[in-house]
Amino acid sequence: MNHRREIIICLGSSCFSRGNKNLLKSIQRFINHHNLADKVFFRGDHCFGECSEGPNLQIDGKMYNRVSDDNIQQILTDSLQDLIKTGG
Ligand code: FES
Repeated sequence: MNHRREIIICLGSSCFSRGNKNLLKSIQRFINHHNLADKVFFRGDHCFGECSEGPNLQIDGKMYNRVSDDNIQQILTDSLQDLIKTGG
């Protein structure tokens, strides 16, 4: 039943300079913190073609625009909540 999830961060120059450089680390921390390394593929990719909406991120094929330090935790928590054990 467990199919592996995928987070793709845009590493095109626009998104990278707009904030994905830092978000890369935030996402890596999130994955480590919740022990998701063997449940989630995390990789970078080339420009998604939506630079003006960036920084951009895709989770399981869904595009997230204007991702920032302010909303990244919420996006990850919402998208991966079934994998995250809260409490306990
Ligand atoms: S650089 Fe990210 S969408 Fe173009």
